[in-house]
Amino acid sequence: MANKLSVHIDVDVLDPAELTAEEQKAMQLAQEAANDAYAPYSNFLVGAALLLEDGTLFKGSNQENAAYPSGLCAERTALFALSAQHPKAKIKLLAVTARRRHEHEHLAAMPCGACRQVMAEYEYKQKEPIPVLLQAADGKFIRFKSVGDLLPFQFTPEHL
Ligand code: THU
Repeated sequence: MANKLSVHIDVDVLDPAELTAEEQKAMQLAQEAANDAYAPYSNFLVGAALLLEDGTLFKGSNQENAAYPSGLCAERTALFALSAQHPKAKIKLLAVTARRRHEHEHLAAMPCGACRQVMAEYEYKQKEPIPVLLQAADGKFIRFKSVGDLLPFQFTPEHL
């Protein structure tokens, strides 16, 4: 008989007032970052914000390209820029939001698989969980305790 293994993931679904002050700040910066997205092809504006251990915030937005696959998502833009400029920085929170151009309503921002893999790399690197706060539908938010919860059974340097 096959051994069964089940994965249980707890997330918090939150109203804006239930966010901590730090989460509110990070999400606000992510929303501002979305305004800077270069997304002339999809018109889907994504913003990401990283709260660092020292309290500073770092932002990223999606950057598209006429050669479509050359573009990059907001999450990876933020993470790669941070790691390039501040390689020792520890991330305390990653916040992500999205909206359509010319619309104010914030949309659910579900990180793509490639972004989850990159998040997992930096979580592994810093040896501490990176909580992830995602914009959800209807003005709500979803709080994941770690990237591991967004990417179970992940490929890590230990598999090399
Ligand atoms: N996008 C992100 O920035 N993050 C994601 O996790 C999903 C998708 C961007 C990529 C592209 O510029 C646009 O959203 C539409 O796919």
